Amino acid sequence: MTEQNPDLERILIPTDVIQKRVQEMAAQINKDFANIDRLYMIGILKGAFIFMADLTRHLTIPHVVDFMALSSYGKTTTIGEVRILMDLREPIDGQHVMIVEDIVDSGITLKYLYKILKDRNPASLHTCVLVRKKRDNGGFPFDYVGFEIPDVWVVGYGLDFADRYRTLPYVAELKREVYNP
Ligand code: PRP
Repeated sequence: MTEQNPDLERILIPTDVIQKRVQEMAAQINKDFANIDRLYMIGILKGAFIFMADLTRHLTIPHVVDFMALSSYGKTTTIGEVRILMDLREPIDGQHVMIVEDIVDSGITLKYLYKILKDRNPASLHTCVLVRKKRDNGGFPFDYVGFEIPDVWVVGYGLDFADRYRTLPYVAELKREVYNP
């Protein structure tokens, strides 16, 4: 049995449940994109690196992986501006593109990124999110969602608090006193 970190309130999504769901999501993507030349998978750093690695290893359709890094200062403003820290290696015009995110909270990041990438004229643009918080996500439609979770601070499977806990194999709720002492 895994010994639980004392900073964690409870495990929300156990390791085996995540792995099974990621396989299911990949199977659905394999089916939905069976007839395209290749799928351009874009992982959003840092949080999506583990989900992206697991998801893409279950893909049987032709695909390439790429990454973007975005700043998050916009989250605390009403403007919702998100800055690109690291951009894609290739142009995506005419390509079938899938954005891969670990979490959608306010929805600001994904909404902004979707607009930026849409303006680059991909053949199609879809979104794949491991967890979505049950709150107002800005009315943005997601194509593939792994889990819906309560509106609490979660860590693990790529998700962090101050860059810690990312490599836990499960998703857990962080104790309130850890992030709000
Ligand atoms: C997280 C996550 C999303 C974003 C979602 O990134 O990876 O990109 O927040 O939040 P939103 O829906 O409120 O916009 P974060 O800024 O924590 O950076 P990180 O992935 O590098 O940890």
